[in-house]
This record gives sequence, structure tokens and C-alpha cells, in this order.
Amino acid sequence: MIYLNNMLVSESKAVVSVFDHGFLYGDGVYETLRAYDGVLFKLNEHIERLFQSASLIKLKLPKTREEIGKAVYETLQANRLKEAYARVTVSRGAGPIGLDPRLCPKPTLAIITNTFKEYPPSYYKKGVKVAIVNTRRNFKGALDPQIKSLNFLNNVLAKTEAIDRSAYEAVMLNYRGYVAEGTISNIFFVKDKVIFTPSIEVGILDGITRRIIIDIAKETGIKVKEGKFRPDNMYEADEIFISNTTMEVMPVKEVDDVKFNVSAGDMTKAIHKAYRSKVREYIREING
Ligand code: PDD
Repeated sequence: MIYLNNMLVSESKAVVSVFDHGFLYGDGVYETLRAYDGVLFKLNEHIERLFQSASLIKLKLPKTREEIGKAVYETLQANRLKEAYARVTVSRGAGPIGLDPRLCPKPTLAIITNTFKEYPPSYYKKGVKVAIVNTRRNFKGALDPQIKSLNFLNNVLAKTEAIDRSAYEAVMLNYRGYVAEGTISNIFFVKDKVIFTPSIEVGILDGITRRIIIDIAKETGIKVKEGKFRPDNMYEADEIFISNTTMEVMPVKEVDDVKFNVSAGDMTKAIHKAYRSKVREYIREING
């Protein structure tokens, strides 16, 4: 079942107009969440970011924070899902051709949930390959990467380059050549026991997993430096990992042609372990 606007409908009935400005112009926002044992991890943070993205494109969401949270849970439960992901999409809605958002009186809300398929264990044991691609991350003065928007061509183009280079994830630089982020992930590297990650100012999404990783590091006395870094800083790193809601913390074994010894990546392993225990703690708090 899919949640569409105000109700749960079967997949075949979950259809959206060809006049929806989400389809015509990529005009809309979204969030991806992960449910563990039926609990939506960091639900409030995701909903807050959805509202933040919507506000940045001047889109008024059709429901309150509480109603959206409830609708995501309803969708999970209707599908009897426990280990799942949920994708909440809100588009500008249907309206005549033309960019003016005022043409669309009613935003479209769609909530898709599905079983979470674990990533292959080797991705965590051996790591994944990433490639620094030529496609630059959107300049934040043009389309701020902090908006989690449906306008994803920037990332799709970067992903295409990664595929051409047999890499799992693309790493984009910003318009000035500083390391920004992956197509669907944030990036971290470790050097001499210090964790480095591009700062929000570089022009990246303020990832919720990223925030948790930074908190973990601070709580455990690991130094974190947010800033502007060049590809060379990555090539010279001891460890590299990427993060997002579904990957959690995923080690990188290769950046372009530079290889990393993932089995010796103690910091990455420790951060991932601490992340998992934060997840368990969160589920316990909610499930009791
Ligand atoms: N992507 N950067 C980009 C460009 C992203 O699209 C994402 C998330 C992240 C990581 O954010 P978080 O830790 O909050 O998941 C960083 C989701 C998973 C997606 O596109 O479905």
C-alpha cells in the first residue's frame, strides 16, 4: 500500500498527474527514512528537514509534522513492515504548464515503504570503491544542496560517471574544487586519528547520519574537523567512509586508483559500532 495525499491506496492506484510540477520541473522535496524493528529512526529529525527543505522552496506542506509522522507509521503498518525504508515525497502538485508555483494549489504527498534489503556484507567487510567525478555539486547560490529536492539531475549525472568508472559512489567537488559529498551520501576521512568531513558551507546536505557520526566522535573524544578539503587530502587519508540513512557507515576501499586497507580501518569500524548501538538505544526507548 502507498500513502497518497490523504489515504492508503494500492500500488496500481497510486498514480500522480502528468501535470504535477514534481514530474514537469522536479519541483518538490523528499526524505528517506529507515525503520528498525518497526521504529522510524530519527523520525523527528527527518520531518524537520522535510519542513526545512519545503520552506526553502516556499512549499507549504499539506499536513503538520505530527500528521506526516503518523502517516509514515500507518504506511509501514499497513504493509506489515519492520525492517524497512520509507520515502516521503512532497511535490508542488498538479497545475497548468508554467513555473509559477501559484499554478498548483494542492501539493502531492506520497509515502512509499518497502522491505529494507541489506547491503551485501562485503561492502562493509571489504569496502566500496568511489570515484571523484567531473560533475560538480550544485553551487549553493544556484540550488542549495541543503534542499533535499526532487531536482536530482546533478546527482544522477555524477552517478553516471561513477558507473562508467565501475565505482559504487561518486564524490562530487564543489565549484571551487573542494570535496563536497556523494550522490546520496556524506563523506568522511580519517588521518592520524582525526576525522575530517566537509563543512556544510562547502555546499552539502546536512545529513542526519553525518550529525550522529559527529556526535559519536565528540562523545568518545575523537577530534572532528569540518572544513574545506581537496582530493589530495582524501588520497593521503588513513581511512575513508561514506554515510547515509540506509548505508549507515560504509568503508571505502578505493578512491580513484588509491587503495585503502579496510580491514585495518579501526576508526570506521568503531564509529559504525557506536552508530549501531545508538540505533538500538533509540529503538529500546520507543519500544520500551
Ligand atoms: N540520501 N547527501 C546527499 C546528496 C543525500 O542525498 C543524502 C541522503 C545524504 C545523507 O543524508 P542522511 O544521512 O540524512 O541520509 C547526503 C538519501 C538516503 C536518499 O537520497 O534516498
